[in-house]
Order: sequence, then C-alpha cells, then structure tokens
Amino acid sequence: MSAAPVICIDGPSGAGKGTVSRALAAELGWHFLDSGALYRVLAIAAEDRAVALTQVDALAALAQALELAFDGDAMAERILLYGEDVTPRVRAEATGERASRLAAHPPVREALLERQRRFRMPPGLVADGRDMGTVVFPDAALKLFLIASPEERARRRAKQLSQLGLDANVRQLTAGIRARDERDRTRRVAPLQPAEDARVVDSTTLDIPGVLQQVRTLAAERGLTGRGMGTRS
Ligand code: DC
Repeated sequence: MSAAPVICIDGPSGAGKGTVSRALAAELGWHFLDSGALYRVLAIAAEDRAVALTQVDALAALAQALELAFDGDAMAERILLYGEDVTPRVRAEATGERASRLAAHPPVREALLERQRRFRMPPGLVADGRDMGTVVFPDAALKLFLIASPEERARRRAKQLSQLGLDANVRQLTAGIRARDERDRTRRVAPLQPAEDARVVDSTTLDIPGVLQQVRTLAAERGLTGRGMGTRS
C-alpha cells in the first residue's frame, strides 16, 4: 500500500500557515501536524525541568521522551504535556522564541523527526512547519511555501495577541519576527527555505479565504481534493 499523501505548508511564522493548514485539513478530513507545537512543547518541558537551551544532549533526550498528546481536531485542539493542558503556554510569544533557539540544534531536530513522520496516516496529512517539504516529508504530493512581509505578519500577530487579551506592540513584534526569521533561515540544519519543488504563495495582500482558494486549486491540480473526504479516522 502506498504511503498516505502529504500536503506541506512551510514558511515563516505569521504568514498564515497555521490557519490555512488547519482549515485545509478540516476541509479534506485529513490529519494535521503542527510541527512548531512540538518545538514549542519541548521548550516548555525544558523550562519546567530547568534544562538550558544550550544543553543539547539533555534537550534531545527530553525530545525523545516527551509524553505529548493533541486532543481534539485541527480546529479546536488542546495540547497535553504529561497529561497537563499546556495550550496557552504553547502559544505565548516567549515560548516561540525559546522554540526557535532549541530548534537550531541538529540532535534536537533529529530526535523529533520520527515523531513527526508518525502523523502520516490515511487518508492524508497536512503538515505545517519550516522543513516539512525539505526534510520531514520530501516525497510530499504538494509543497507550499507561504510568505508575507514582516510588517504584515507583525500586524496579524498583534491582532491575535489582543484577541487573547495580551499586550502587543507592532514595532517590537516586527523586530522580533525579523530576528527569528534570520535565525531560522541561517541555521545549519533544515534552514527555513522553500523546497526546490515548492510553490511559493505570498499572502501579504491576500486574506485567508484567498490563500485557501489558491491552495485548493493547486491541490485539485494534483488530484488531491475529493480523496478521502470525510473519512478521517
Ligand atoms: O511555527 P511556530 O512559530 O509554532 O514554530 C516555533 C519555532 O519552532 C520556530 O521559530 C522555529 C521552530 N520550528 C522549526 O524549526 N521547524 C519546524 N518544522 C517548526 C518550527
């Protein structure tokens, strides 16, 4: 039996990957991998155990042992770490920052590789991340690389934060986004870059339905839509 099809949606944070890939997974009835959440949860586990972001071996061991569960579907998901609901902490800006730092260590990425590949199950998987198309699922049926200007991404993030009742300063967020992009793009392993066979979609001036429409068209061109609809196991 051939492996379940994968659609990869990679790109920097704030480009709309999360929203688009969740909506697509729900629409197709496919499984969903939020790979950034794995790095974020590892950052939380490290913080709780006082493991420094420079203790590479300890971080890799923690990544191997992580007891993690995604509860619910792609649209309403809770993330459990050792049975405790850590969802609000996962989404915090500081957690993303720490995740970006530990994600630069090759042994940490290696330790999370198999765990990510286990999400590939019939009828299919939508995988959201940075290196889904380049490293984790190089044989994916469709690879998208979603981009948007740093300023636009900061504005979107500020809106999300204020909806959560958290303070947001667009200038500071833009600076943080640029710094994180730079680190993700220039790290030695699995840097943030489109796969050679990825389609780059710029969402700076597109809203989510507009991006989804483009993605649907590309998926349909590859015969991916309509397959397994509503049969998510
Ligand atoms: O997508 P996100 O913002 O939740 O990801 C948080 C950090 O995790 C991001 O700055 C870099 C890292 N990451 C990664 O290195 N590889 C992935 N596939 C996903 C995330």
